[in-house]
Amino acid sequence: MARQLRGGFASRLGFILAAAGSAIGLGNIWKFPYITGENGGGAFLVIYLVTVFVIGFSIMMAELAIGRAAERNPVGAFSRLKGGAWVGVGYMGVLTGVIILSFYSVVGGWTIAYALKAISGQLAGGDAAALGGTFGGFIGDTAEPLVYHAIFMTLTCVVVGVGIGGGIERAAKVLMPLLLFLIVVLIVQVLSLPGAEAGISFFFSPDFSKVNGDTFIAAVGHAFFSLSLGMGTMLTYGSYLSRKVWLPTAAATVTVLDTLIAILAGMIILPAVFAFGIDPGAGPGLTFITLPAIFNQMPGGDWVAFAFFILLAVAALTSAVSLLEVVVAYFVDEKQVLRTRATMAAGVIIFLLGIPSSLSFGLLSDTTFFGTMTFFDVMDYLSSNILLPVGGILVAIFAAWIAWPRIIEEASGWEKSTFPLAGLWRIVLGVVAPVAVLLVLYHGL
Ligand code: TRP
Repeated sequence: MARQLRGGFASRLGFILAAAGSAIGLGNIWKFPYITGENGGGAFLVIYLVTVFVIGFSIMMAELAIGRAAERNPVGAFSRLKGGAWVGVGYMGVLTGVIILSFYSVVGGWTIAYALKAISGQLAGGDAAALGGTFGGFIGDTAEPLVYHAIFMTLTCVVVGVGIGGGIERAAKVLMPLLLFLIVVLIVQVLSLPGAEAGISFFFSPDFSKVNGDTFIAAVGHAFFSLSLGMGTMLTYGSYLSRKVWLPTAAATVTVLDTLIAILAGMIILPAVFAFGIDPGAGPGLTFITLPAIFNQMPGGDWVAFAFFILLAVAALTSAVSLLEVVVAYFVDEKQVLRTRATMAAGVIIFLLGIPSSLSFGLLSDTTFFGTMTFFDVMDYLSSNILLPVGGILVAIFAAWIAWPRIIEEASGWEKSTFPLAGLWRIVLGVVAPVAVLLVLYHGL
């Protein structure tokens, strides 16, 4: 009954694409290449992959199982399955969603702006240095990025307002495959550039002498961010998932797709960085500078650029939707607020919180915290490198030690299938993940 009232995914494929749509976003195409660049390349990749497949996959299954067992948003799920202080994990998730979306929407706005700049010829002809100037000028401006932040946030609200089956599922089904196709085209293009091989070896030959505590914290934080874990996004999506779907394959599919797209994005951006002589540690601008430089070398580059940035905006949108959905589901389930109203109110608050993040590249660029971090950096670091890992550990402990019988029943499936790796999974959730993540957090802070 609750399932009918709350709506749900119409099919297994629809769920996979929506969950993959949540996971695949700016994290893969914008953030992953530049933090790989900042953290020395191949060695970071290795640490990231191990974290994703051991810890990330396990926690994704745990979130899906908790969500489907409770059929609730994170707050409702923890209070239904256990109650007490565990409900705090749910509240923390809702808050983390607000924080992440506030700066995510700023960058989402950049992608829309860049699609329009591409089609109006404003990116044409420039080399990497000129494009760096264009990008710096754009994000440093006060009003323009805020307008696009508002547009991006409005689009997110429209999709979430329409509800789960109608908006999210349909958009993800068509556009994600298209993005994958364009990425492959771009890899072929990039690898033909002179000097591109240096980027490939930077990316794929690990140099472990570059590894330190920061490398681990970046890898762990990004594994959670990229897989949309640690704040109840997957938990909430799991709550809309039919019991016919076997969780291990669903979680594995989403994990593999997400990682594949990140690696492919790295195979575009990093070789281009070397071919164009850009510093791989250049930070958040990397994608927005290298991609237009690649497009400028292609026939019909403006159109390819336009298509790419539109698809990137859509990928960002399906992720943003999943962030906002957690917040809205909380108000709809727990406070009986109308979906449209909850969406609008949350949208306005998140937009306002995003303003200082947007200004961090201009007006507020000299307003720093903890040394050299801008407001944007603080929001990003706090959510990705602290709140998500802490949330993830708590989810893991909850699944392994507090609600295990219910969780393993949910993960094994309802149609008499079993999960052969149940014992191993429980050890990872109950021991390996908490210990590893705590160690990394401890050293990082
Ligand atoms: N995973 C998305 C990306 O890589 C961002 C995202 C969506 C997210 N939902 C989330 C990050 C929940 C952390 C938690 O772009």
